Amino acid sequence: MERILIIGAAGQIGSELTLELRKIYGNSNVFATDVKDAPADIKESGPFQLLDVMDDKHLIHFVIRNKITQIYHLAAVLSGNAEKLPTQAWHINMDSLMNILEVAKLVEDVRKVFWPSSIAVFGNSTPKTGTPQLTVMEPSTVYGISKLAGERWCEYYHKRYNIDIRSLRYPGLISYKTEPGGGTTDWAVEIYFEAVRKKSYNCFLSEDVSLPMMFMEDAINATIKLMETDKANLACHSSYNITGPSLTPRQVAVDIRRHIPGFDITYHPDFRQSIAESWPSSIDDSELRTSIIWKPRFDLQQITDSMIEEIRNKV
Ligand code: SER
Repeated sequence: MERILIIGAAGQIGSELTLELRKIYGNSNVFATDVKDAPADIKESGPFQLLDVMDDKHLIHFVIRNKITQIYHLAAVLSGNAEKLPTQAWHINMDSLMNILEVAKLVEDVRKVFWPSSIAVFGNSTPKTGTPQLTVMEPSTVYGISKLAGERWCEYYHKRYNIDIRSLRYPGLISYKTEPGGGTTDWAVEIYFEAVRKKSYNCFLSEDVSLPMMFMEDAINATIKLMETDKANLACHSSYNITGPSLTPRQVAVDIRRHIPGFDITYHPDFRQSIAESWPSSIDDSELRTSIIWKPRFDLQQITDSMIEEIRNKV
């Protein structure tokens, strides 16, 4: 029987992944934790506790006491926020991962770990379109440097200590339940909320910068599929490329007008423009798709239809 610990259960990914895992493994077997309070459905459907992943002693006690067998470590400082406080972001992103890897090494019951990487591991010298799994990686952001270093540590712990750690290089994730905070791809979520609330959006990127994106439902399905796949099928022990549609702010704005004809968008690029320009515009994730036999379901139109409908229900 699996007993699963989620770190960052109140965040953009955690608030949805926790509920999906509870459907599969049983409410009482999925332990949601965060440094901040969680949404009501997380707290009411199963165990929730405040837990700081930076506190290694508290973390290992929690894991042993609750007989945890799998850990999903989803807490991180995203790309935009990390540029504001570089050394703090490095400390949080790296030390939290090292704490998890050490727990997985020390506690025998822990058999599997999931940790997200990002398209931010790529940089200006990486081929921009159809970016392959294996390529030049010279990230220029603190977030990207921490994710690339994290990937190397994951592979190291796999090789040296036989830790079964699995990872995906998420693109920008588009979701209506919990908004992201401080990322460069946040515009692709904000644009829908602002379209419904105000019929206008002031975008912090220019109109034609293209970035790989994915609807949250696809990201959750791929993550669970990756974790359930037989280890023998997984050749990559750093992190797999994964993607849905590549989107520009202008394309999304045009598509939103199918639902909200008067939607108005303005562009005032800030410091995140150069981060976006350093990332790939499209990703080749064929290695993942053959390893876990998966493909995304949502294209731009389907994402827009779901986002507008769900946000209208909320506001
Ligand atoms: N969504 C993240 C960010 O923009 C990228 O992984 O920081």
